[in-house]
Amino acid sequence: MWWLVINAILIMVTSCAGQNGTTPTPLVIWHGMGDTCCFPFSMGRIKQLVEDRIPGIYVHSLMIGPNIIADEENGFFGNVNEQVEEVCEKIANDTQLQNGYHAMGFSQGGQFLRAVAQRCPSPPMKNLITFGGQHQGVFGFPRCPSEPQQSRMCEYIRKLLDHASYHYWIQNGLVQAQYWHDPLDEALYREKSIFIADINNERTLNTSYRVNLKKLENFVMVKFLQDGMVIPVDSEWFGFYSPGQDVEVLPLQETKLYFEDWLGLKEMDEAGKLHFLSVEGDHLQFSDQWFLEEIVDRFVA
Ligand SMILES: *[C@@H]1O[C@H](CO)[C@@H](O)[C@H](O)[C@H]1NC(C)=O
Ligand SMILES: *[C@@H]1O[C@H](CO)[C@@H](O)[C@H](O)[C@H]1NC(C)=O
Ligand SMILES: *[C@@H]1O[C@H](CO)[C@@H](O)[C@H](O)[C@H]1NC(C)=O
Repeated sequence: MWWLVINAILIMVTSCAGQNGTTPTPLVIWHGMGDTCCFPFSMGRIKQLVEDRIPGIYVHSLMIGPNIIADEENGFFGNVNEQVEEVCEKIANDTQLQNGYHAMGFSQGGQFLRAVAQRCPSPPMKNLITFGGQHQGVFGFPRCPSEPQQSRMCEYIRKLLDHASYHYWIQNGLVQAQYWHDPLDEALYREKSIFIADINNERTLNTSYRVNLKKLENFVMVKFLQDGMVIPVDSEWFGFYSPGQDVEVLPLQETKLYFEDWLGLKEMDEAGKLHFLSVEGDHLQFSDQWFLEEIVDRFVA
């Protein structure tokens, strides 16, 4: 009889500990171009959806620079390597992230967070989820927002990129130039691209990038099947134009980066850590239900 009582007590104790011993893994978010950490209709909304789905979760939506205005401007202007460094410092400074975190990057925020995983392994990033990220860069500037003031700026940027992406001051000052990838001149790209060629280990092979990326538990890449922003859209799944031309596209698994395994992606793929998800729709267009069921429940909770 007494052992029944003890058993019952043990079960109560362990289930109690299970309930308050497990706080959810926190989440870090990096917004896309033209957006900020905290607009209530964009990243603020994503944060709210996650918080409602996972009670008690801590969500840190990254602000790049000291305020929202700087945050938005920094999506266009500045040096991505410095922004990544700033983010590494912010994450290291945040006491609530010290036991590790999951990360969600929207559009260019996707490849920027991958750089964080590769360069700053501590505290550890566990799952990385990128939405419409440009992991192999882009060759073509996205269609512009409809507001006249912004589209003038976009048009200007496109012209600059076509002619001058790899000029020193543009490469170092314009964010989009730092993931410009000209497949017609891969040698120039490797030599001049200070960000995307570097994190893809195409300039020099930095073994710590590979070691660190492989520490991820899951690397989830979401591609938008009718994406009008990202050229080529295959970059969202780490594919790109076959070198020397801009028509034929190779999926990740057929690139040299993969079969020579510069980043450990082949090894991760074989271990089941890579997840290629697709959604019907344009850039970053998805329903709450899809987001909650396919992303939050599977990779954040
Ligand atoms: C959490 O666990 C401690 C002891 O492990 C217990 O005293 C406390 O009541 C628990 N809190 C909740 C909210 O269950
Ligand atoms: C991190 O913390 C240090 C020390 O408190 C502070 O000087 C620094 O500005 C912080 N960095 C960022 C990016 O918040
Ligand atoms: C590799 O990357 C790390 C982190 O950014 C850096 O500290 C180190 O100097 C790099 N090593 C080489 C050989 O480039």
